[in-house]
Amino acid sequence: MQWDQKRILEIDRRHIWHPYTQMKDYEARDPLVITRARGLKLYTADGRELYDTISSWWANLHGHLHPALNQALKEQLEYLEHVNFSGFTHPYAVEVVERLRRFLPTELTRFFFSDNGSTAVEVALKMAFQFWQNQGATQKTRFVCLEEAYHGDTLGAVSVGGVDLFFRLYRPLTFETFRAPAPYCYRCPENPSLDFTRDAEHIKCDLRCLEGLERILKEYSHEICAVIVEPRLLAAGGMIVYPADYLRGLREITRRYGVFLIFDEVATGFGRTGAMFALESAGVVPDILCLSKGLTAGYLPLALTVTTEEIYQAFYADYLEGKTFYHGHTYTANPLACAVAVANLKLFEEERPLEKGAEARAYFHRRLLEIFAPKEYVGDIRYLGYVGAIELVRDRGTREPFPPEKRVGFQIYMASLEEGVVLRPLGDVIYWFLPLCVTKTDLEEILTRSLRVIDRVIRELS
Ligand SMILES: Cc1ncc(COP(=O)(O)O)c(C=O)c1O
Repeated sequence: MQWDQKRILEIDRRHIWHPYTQMKDYEARDPLVITRARGLKLYTADGRELYDTISSWWANLHGHLHPALNQALKEQLEYLEHVNFSGFTHPYAVEVVERLRRFLPTELTRFFFSDNGSTAVEVALKMAFQFWQNQGATQKTRFVCLEEAYHGDTLGAVSVGGVDLFFRLYRPLTFETFRAPAPYCYRCPENPSLDFTRDAEHIKCDLRCLEGLERILKEYSHEICAVIVEPRLLAAGGMIVYPADYLRGLREITRRYGVFLIFDEVATGFGRTGAMFALESAGVVPDILCLSKGLTAGYLPLALTVTTEEIYQAFYADYLEGKTFYHGHTYTANPLACAVAVANLKLFEEERPLEKGAEARAYFHRRLLEIFAPKEYVGDIRYLGYVGAIELVRDRGTREPFPPEKRVGFQIYMASLEEGVVLRPLGDVIYWFLPLCVTKTDLEEILTRSLRVIDRVIRELS
């Protein structure tokens, strides 16, 4: 197919407002026009190619346009494209649940469909809140989240968000939430001797960061319905990896103080951390689990909020008791999305990408350390499964960040596109969020190009 790139850019510039983008920056140079993708690569209208090193906003799992997923979508188009899911059901949603249950803890038995990650979180918050209302514990209305947490951009999700840069402005629109210290090992005041974050797994850490959260529960648990966290990886907060022990401790104290535990696995789910779900690495079962992104392997919007029999039963009553869960979205359990989700889950069972990828993951972690540990501008190196990150600092000894006006991360992003990789930073944290099909050869190429860009930009800026 032929594309008129000039016309696309002209109309885009005149009318389209892109997400998470300062449009003044965006207009300063032509954006890439992506017209095709295959496997790990994106292709532009003017014939360039790039490694999709952030899996198209953390969603793609098996590479772009996987034949089995394409086929599932085409076949579904012969049967049903959409139907109201309130009062009707369909076999495609049922099969998603049937297959997903094989990967989830048996305690999680009830599945509520919606259509994106923020929405899965909104549902979880409303479920936890209404559980206590339905039980008559009407004073339990508040939530606890972590500093540096990100759970989405709708207002409920923003209320439990901790990334100040994104959320500060909207605070007057949100409900008040307790914010507990993040388990940010690199900037841990208790353990300044940590070399890189990975050390936190190996040294004896007494999890002092959890004490802040426990103090909140101790004093206010009578007002609190739930604690919400992203297990093992605070993703948008800066790809902050933290030890599994934290989650075990958190499960224990939430039980002790009678508040629910919500795991948001929108980013970590479906293999990204090297296990099907991050909760497996801690052996912890939450009361509510949020899933989206990888559920359809990055094809179509679909989400699930999964919970226990205990929570479900608190809503199950005669209609006039007023315990119904009033929540739903037009595209809830969309059959096309469900068909792809089923094919995705089949791939996990039949092709076993996580077992096959063990060597590539180990190689990725080893090469991150080999390549970036000697670099003076790298303060921290962290990784988990297919996610790796480096935190850039001006002074390695004091951990002082670069001045924000230098916009180091942003400069690296712009330069990376020229180099054929997508290093979309979170502040000055440069990360790789790779699909499960990445090979050692791809990794070597991606890291070599990344190093070249980062070295060059740092040299030019200093
Ligand atoms: C942990 C987490 N929760 C929720 C969301 C929101 O998902 P969505 O962008 O589909 O609304 C994201 C998105 O990045 C996320 O990383």
